[in-house]
Amino acid sequence: MAGAHIRTTVGIVGAGPAGLMLSHLLARSGIESVVVDNRTRPEIEGTSRAGILEAGNVRLLTESGASDRVCREGRPHGGIELRFGGESHRVDFEALVGRNVWLYPQTDVFTDLADARERDGADVRFGVSGTRVVDLTGERPGILFTDADGVHREVRCDILVGADGSRGVCRAAVPEAARTHFYREYPFAWFGVLVEAPPSAAELVYTHSEHGFALISRRTESVQRMYFQCDPDEDPAAWSEDRIWAELQRRVRGADGFTLKEGPVTDRSVLRFRSFVCEPMRFGNMLLAGDAAHTVPPTGAKGLNLALADVRVLAEVLETALAKRDHGVLDAYGPRALRRVWRAQHFTYWMTTMLHRVPGSAAFDVRRQLAELAGVVDSTAGSTYLAEAYTGWSAE
Ligand code: PHB
Repeated sequence: MAGAHIRTTVGIVGAGPAGLMLSHLLARSGIESVVVDNRTRPEIEGTSRAGILEAGNVRLLTESGASDRVCREGRPHGGIELRFGGESHRVDFEALVGRNVWLYPQTDVFTDLADARERDGADVRFGVSGTRVVDLTGERPGILFTDADGVHREVRCDILVGADGSRGVCRAAVPEAARTHFYREYPFAWFGVLVEAPPSAAELVYTHSEHGFALISRRTESVQRMYFQCDPDEDPAAWSEDRIWAELQRRVRGADGFTLKEGPVTDRSVLRFRSFVCEPMRFGNMLLAGDAAHTVPPTGAKGLNLALADVRVLAEVLETALAKRDHGVLDAYGPRALRRVWRAQHFTYWMTTMLHRVPGSAAFDVRRQLAELAGVVDSTAGSTYLAEAYTGWSAE
């Protein structure tokens, strides 16, 4: 174990999928990094997150040697169901764009990356506290923290990466005058549950109903993930299992008789909705990646996919900058990453506003949403746009 002062090439704050994947990709190019995270490994593994990976990110995981479990335990999905007016309409990704997505929970992506980093002897420190980043515009930016064993430590690096999520210390360390925030709040949230029950549908069902949105997703043969639109201030403890099931059932109900297979609710939480982008993604010798720079509502399943797309670009830019000893190269990262980020922002906003009931909205708005949904499923152009965006745009 190194002393209180640790020297490395890239210092990474945040050991979620973005930070760990970056560390993994850099190591493959012979670039050293140190990763720190305030959370412990069990804390990260115990948090329910989204579950859809674009095929390009499945390839990134497998081809980089980070995970082969995704091929065994992940499930390819060739489409989704859009359900409205009480009927389901399949959007066939494979027929429309020749691509699919994979159901593989973010928690499993994290576990695979953490195992791969441990196997390769990487310096990843979970459960640290009091993390601060300093000297961001200097030649040796630093990460100061107290290790899990109570020792104060200081990592000094050539380049620092903030992959510490939307409430992390890295973005907050950028002076306000040096960053612009773009954001949109929504007047609703998702009530997410894990349930012990068999699958109710083969593919994900995104449901528009007069009672609000619902999403029927999956985990395993015996555990399912479901969500329904709720008030942002909803208290998860105020909902009995019976009430949760009644709410989910009435949202998916329709003339086709579709019903959900019920079982015990084992986990519940309210996920607040926010669309957010911070520009630029560089300040001095610090670069932001993933949720530290941008967040999307979960409707388009883009959060994890964007984080992995960021680090794919970032690893490449860092390699070039370090090989040429030219930090000017770092300027290429943000604009390249942001092209995808803004496309995903638009797609997610579109899916969200098309499928959710806006409190206080007029009957006109509901009819307009139904027409929009019909325009998607009845038109090859409309459904191709959805399929292209959902399965992920090709690498820039
Ligand atoms: C999930 O399975 O948790 C999930 C899937 C698709 C989404 C959001 C969440 O759009």
